[in-house]
Formats: sequence, structure tokens, C-alpha cells
Amino acid sequence: MKKAVPSYPHVVPLGDEAVLVALDSARWGEDPWTTPGRIGGDQLRAAREIVREHAKLGRAVVLAFHHHVVLPPERVPSDVHVARMPLADADQVVRLVADLPVAAVLHGHRHTAFRVDLPGAAGATPVLCAGSASRVADEPVRRARAYVYEIDRTGVRSVEALVSGSE
Ligand SMILES: [Fe+2]
Repeated sequence: MKKAVPSYPHVVPLGDEAVLVALDSARWGEDPWTTPGRIGGDQLRAAREIVREHAKLGRAVVLAFHHHVVLPPERVPSDVHVARMPLADADQVVRLVADLPVAAVLHGHRHTAFRVDLPGAAGATPVLCAGSASRVADEPVRRARAYVYEIDRTGVRSVEALVSGSE
């Protein structure tokens, strides 16, 4: 039987000025209801090389993966269950952003929209959770949504929220 070949990090060019680096944080345990996320040393090392390579070429680099890195304190009571499933090596992502120019970190996992900024090598680095794409909720911040990003070589220029059930 053939051995599985790791397919992450997966690099997606966003035009000529930016790249999205997708990392897999979601395949580390048996039970999806109790398993924390983990990116792991191999992916983190590879991601660092990719960020260096593209930053040298003047491109904005966006990291994307499933689990949250940091929670804003005001959101903690909102999704009690996934609070038990953090990203086990979130500290390594914080360090990567501090060491290398990352334009933004995008993630999901939390079914609510929020933004936190991390101190980054290229200045304040936005960490954005768009929230759920399918949730039915009364609270606007938890309603199904998508974010549309405008990105150029200087980073994220704008973020537009498309919210279900809004004008
Ligand atoms: Fe999740």
C-alpha cells in the first residue's frame, strides 16, 4: 500500500501580489468533539519557509486553517463547547507572526465573527474569524456569513461581511 503524502501546506496564489497558505489543523485525534487542533512542527517549519520565500518576492502572505489562535475575552461564553478544543500549538503561530511578515491569519471553528490583532513582524497582524457559513441565529454576530477580502501586496485592504438575512 502506498504511504499517504502530506498535502499541506497548500499554497494558493491570489493574483500576483498575494498567496494564501492553507494549513491542516484538524486531523489529530479520534473524536471530533473533544480533539484540540494542532498544526505540528513539520507544517509550521514548511510554512515559515513559504512565508520567507513569498515575502522576499514582495507578496502578501495570508495563513488559513480551521482552529482559532486567540479568543477575544468577550466571546468566551458564546461557544463553550469549542473552547475545550483550542489549537494546541497556537503559541507557535503567534511566534511565526512575530518573526515573519504575515498579512493576516484566517480561521473558523468559532461560530461567531471576531477579529483580534497580533503583534507582527510587519506591524499589527489581523486574525479574523468569519464565523459560521450556515448557522441560523438571532444574534447578528453569529448569523451565517462570509467575509470578502481585498488584498494587495501591502496586505488586507478591506474586509466585507456578507451576512445572511441582512440588507
Ligand atoms: Fe471546529
